[in-house]
Amino acid sequence: MSFSVLTAVRSFSSTSTMKMALKNVTVIGSGLMGSGIAQVAAQTGHNVTLVDVSEPILQKATASIKKSLERVAKKKYSDNASEGEKFVAESLKRLTTNTSAEASAKSADIVIEAIVENVKVKQDLFKALDKAAPSSTLFASNTSSLSITDIASATQRKDRFGGLHFFNPVPVMKLLEVIRTVDTSDDTYNKMMEFGKNLGKQTITCKDTPGFVVNRLLVPYMGEAMRMLERGDATAKDIDIAMKLGAGYPMGPFELMDYVGLDTTVFIMEGWHEKYPDNPLFEPSKLLKKLVSEGKLGKKSGEGIYKYD
Ligand SMILES: NC(=O)c1ccc[n+]([C@@H]2O[C@H](COP(=O)([O-])OP(=O)(O)OC[C@H]3O[C@@H](n4cnc5c(N)ncnc54)[C@H](O)[C@@H]3O)[C@@H](O)[C@H]2O)c1
Repeated sequence: MSFSVLTAVRSFSSTSTMKMALKNVTVIGSGLMGSGIAQVAAQTGHNVTLVDVSEPILQKATASIKKSLERVAKKKYSDNASEGEKFVAESLKRLTTNTSAEASAKSADIVIEAIVENVKVKQDLFKALDKAAPSSTLFASNTSSLSITDIASATQRKDRFGGLHFFNPVPVMKLLEVIRTVDTSDDTYNKMMEFGKNLGKQTITCKDTPGFVVNRLLVPYMGEAMRMLERGDATAKDIDIAMKLGAGYPMGPFELMDYVGLDTTVFIMEGWHEKYPDNPLFEPSKLLKKLVSEGKLGKKSGEGIYKYD
């Protein structure tokens, strides 16, 4: 047997018999990110409970997950429709919903939080979960901009707490940032890395620093683009063209800001600026704040830097 065939057989048998340490997954928050995380976990063989504050919200999330799974199936099984249907049905069978976070945490190997970006609200949730979940349950936050250490401080399990930062849209974006705080144990970190691989993501390791890796680079980049616009160095359109054709970026900084939401961008910058007032890279631009105050939030409001139909 050649080396490559042997390697392939070994890797097949090890994945086919592999026992997942984090099989039962509870995702709290069924919005944009939580739905995507729940979908990817279900389609990769995990048992998933998706939690939100009301039944109608959960029904909407389940419908959007079904649609998204159908899109994945169409691509993945383009020449075998019945396999595609089976993929969707089996993924959905592994997904349940619940309006009680505490009840859902009782049988979870890991709880992933994807609720509103507010440290106090996240701390309150984890404080309640800490009492409800077995001591072996790992906790993770999908926060984009808050400190994992600050969120974990509300619990008695700082060693079993880390960050799992997914990217939008979760089923499409390959990256998963795994954040370890100074308290995250090796065992927790290793299980989270393995979980990320089981989800089919490319994992990277980050320290608990503002914005981790991607947003720490992207947010100041967007801020600098706004400052260029304020100074009148070039038009928004030309700056976007420049970064797409000159740097090979798929979107220019203004297209990206409109996609992310100008309000979200200001919110992140203001949070970091408050915590690190001496870092000029974190200072929100006046123009950005003005656009937000006028209700120009980007694609979602129909107008941001650009106008949308
Ligand atoms: N949107 C992005 O591109 C993106 C990317 C990476 C990380 N994040 C982070 O992910 C988190 C969620 O972002 P989103 O864009 O999915 O938000 P979203 O507003 O789309 O969804 C949040 C959901 O959480 C629910 N919720 C709020 N409080 C709750 C509670 N106490 N219990 C249960 N459910 C609750 C809301 O009803 C809502 O359905 C935030 O921390 C955000 O910073 C967002």
